[in-house]
Amino acid sequence: MPLAQIIGTGSYAPAQVITNKDLEKFVDTSDEWIVERTGIRERRKAAPGETTSDMAVAAAREALAMAGVRPEDLELIVVGTITADMPMPSCAVFVQAKLGAGRAFAFDVAAACAGGVYALSVAEQFIRTGQVKRALVIGADLFTGVLNWNDRNTCVLFGDGAGAMVLAPAQEEGRGLLSTHLRTDGALAEILTIPAGGSREPLTEENIRTQRHKLNMNGREVFKCAVRELTSITHEALKVHGLTTSQVDHFIAHQANLRILEAVMQRIEIPLEKCWINLDKYGNTSAASVPIALDEANRAGRLKRGDIVVMVAIGSGMTWGCAVVRW
Ligand code: COA
Repeated sequence: MPLAQIIGTGSYAPAQVITNKDLEKFVDTSDEWIVERTGIRERRKAAPGETTSDMAVAAAREALAMAGVRPEDLELIVVGTITADMPMPSCAVFVQAKLGAGRAFAFDVAAACAGGVYALSVAEQFIRTGQVKRALVIGADLFTGVLNWNDRNTCVLFGDGAGAMVLAPAQEEGRGLLSTHLRTDGALAEILTIPAGGSREPLTEENIRTQRHKLNMNGREVFKCAVRELTSITHEALKVHGLTTSQVDHFIAHQANLRILEAVMQRIEIPLEKCWINLDKYGNTSAASVPIALDEANRAGRLKRGDIVVMVAIGSGMTWGCAVVRW
């Protein structure tokens, strides 16, 4: 069975920039604190009326153009998101309609910040089995809409954006997605949640007033889990292919916090220069983070044929995943 290959990438970030200085005006924080503790300098915010599917479509058009694939040739659209346009139906169906990709079946994958890698892994299975020949994978989140702008622990960290990849069966032996690896620890569900708005705590005036329909996070626990699990899954995934970390050419990691990236890179002994870093510009864009970073590295001409590219992401759940690619 052929491997799945990424034949096009694309990304989109809304035009409005919110700097750390902008945040200083309404929350008790400082540019110095945010840069020192996270590496983030600015993030993007969707325009009024702009939806998650609008951002997803913008990224998808770029990826389709690079791949030379028409929307009507797509057979599958998977969107990693937890901030869909509405609770029902999925974001993916709006993407399908806006692109005019009428042949594609479309659905969302909810794995929060790991959503891009989870969606990639799901699409990979359809390509490998031969059921689908052209798949569109998107990670898109409009996180500024689910932030409590009074909570300095969280509101400084996130931004909006979308990234996309087009997958097809590899034309050359040995190139493409060598494997994807997904992991979950539901026992850690409570450390990163949007508590209200679901069946457990339906929306009420009271929980809206107390902002329980917005993101709630135990930052230290998330930090520890991210360092531990991203390190461990990278080793685990490379081992499957008899690869060592010194053979990795590019590390495309979830952009949550520069200190997390530094700690992981140190533990897996890959120099930080091999890690694409754009969190200074976008903050944490959740499911979009890895697909945007991959697209930037790709368009910068960094990814050469045959390079080993490792993608890792972690998010609420906790959910995490890794993809090993021979580019
Ligand atoms: N500005 C100024 N001070 C802030 C602040 C902000 N934006 N956010 C928190 N602080 C304060 C805290 O209130 C605390 O003050 P206290 O000591 O008086 O209680 C102090 O800074 C230190 O807080 P702490 O939580 O120890 O900071 P930290 O070094 O762990 O950094 C995070 C906090 C959130 C940046 C860090 O824990 C983190 O990045 N965690 C992972 C988050 C993440 O990646 N989430 C998404 C995963 S997909």
